Amino acid sequence: MSTSELPASHAELMDGVYRWQRHFYDLTRKYYLLGRDRLISGLDVPADGTVLELGCGTGRNIVLAARRYPAARFFGLDISAEMLETASAAMIREGLSGRVALARGDATDFDAKALFSVENFDRIFVSYSLSMIPGWERTVSAALAALSPGGSLHVVDFGQQEALPRWFRTLLRGWLRKFHVEPRESLRDVLESESAKIGASLRFRTLYRGYAWLAVVGQRS
Ligand SMILES: C[S@@+](CC[C@H](N)C(=O)[O-])C[C@H]1O[C@@H](n2cnc3c(N)ncnc32)[C@H](O)[C@@H]1O
Repeated sequence: MSTSELPASHAELMDGVYRWQRHFYDLTRKYYLLGRDRLISGLDVPADGTVLELGCGTGRNIVLAARRYPAARFFGLDISAEMLETASAAMIREGLSGRVALARGDATDFDAKALFSVENFDRIFVSYSLSMIPGWERTVSAALAALSPGGSLHVVDFGQQEALPRWFRTLLRGWLRKFHVEPRESLRDVLESESAKIGASLRFRTLYRGYAWLAVVGQRS
């Protein structure tokens, strides 16, 4: 996808949010983007498999997943050129450039073949990005459409803090709003209906009393 096809205002917003934050993003987010490592260990990537992260940010997840699944090839998509600059430096530093391809694009509407010369992926994951993507439901359907037969979509994101104290939820929500993050109340419903449409199974788990939600949509091969 060429830059001109990106939703410019959202791309600019994300670049604005991350222009400075990207330099200390990984250090700070490890304390509150919970469940990401659990998602990575649950990917269970097949040998020589292909893995796409939508909204890959600094590339932190791809680096960890690439270490865990050393025979797999990885692809990262993000709308922010700023984040991709950090991600690309991380791949070079980690010696992963030959096994990881990064591209700028919109996770609600992407052409994987044009961006990566790969049409379908064995695993696709979205980590704490659906809560920042306007029209995030389209990311779910685009991801499912890009799965290989037998592939799976893995999602981790903020839950609704169902079993946490009301004051905590109010504080967290106020703080997240400053970063343009909105936990998606209908995440489970959307995953349920999208997986039903393609006859896939859904595993949906609540982590840390609703702080986070972790879901896996598995396609039948
Ligand atoms: C909170 S960060 C999560 C980064 C990473 N997945 C992680 O777990 O650390 C959200 C990322 O989603 C990206 N993003 C937001 N909207 C997007 C869109 N429409 N398409 C692709 N990426 C998007 C942002 O630029 C940012 O890098």
